[in-house]
Amino acid sequence: MIRIVRTLFGLIFGWIASVVLGVLGRFHSDPMSNRVQRRTFVRNATLGAVGSTLAVVAAGFGGLMWPNKTGAFGSKLIVPADDVPPVDGVPFRNVAGKFYLIHNTDGLMALYTKCPHLGCTVPYVGPADSPHAFQCPCHGSMYDYEGDRTGGPAPRPMDYMTVTVEPDGSVMVNTGEIHTRESYDPSQTVKLA
Ligand code: FES
Repeated sequence: MIRIVRTLFGLIFGWIASVVLGVLGRFHSDPMSNRVQRRTFVRNATLGAVGSTLAVVAAGFGGLMWPNKTGAFGSKLIVPADDVPPVDGVPFRNVAGKFYLIHNTDGLMALYTKCPHLGCTVPYVGPADSPHAFQCPCHGSMYDYEGDRTGGPAPRPMDYMTVTVEPDGSVMVNTGEIHTRESYDPSQTVKLA
């Protein structure tokens, strides 16, 4: 969508630049002199090309101003208060954000769904007190409710994302901030106030 807007912006800006330069060219041309008309044409064509290039550059800058990632993986996503699981409850899964929000007695943690072995998506199979609450279907890595590795070839626990509890009880997960770890530690969680 943003690419289409950028392209349209570039085309419209380039067209406007060409029209303006064409009008200016008419004011400055001398009908009595073919030489002058030729020079004017070359000048306007050059300025038109420069104007179009500048339009494309301006469109690129416009793209930098627009955040590319909103509401998707890489951005900050909100889990509504009603969707926050109870302690040891079934994790809330955000498919676009690629995380599970789990809730244990220490607090909340957002687990990255990507298996640290070779990147498959790890499903939750529960229950929360099982040492194999998460099981990767690809090569059999297993993780407990906190994402700690309990079996299989994975080299480390499931990664986790930065979590912030908002004043209204909703939870913000920064899917652009992913942390690796050696093992589970309560400091990786955030208390639900
Ligand atoms: S990708 Fe999950 S165990 Fe290999």
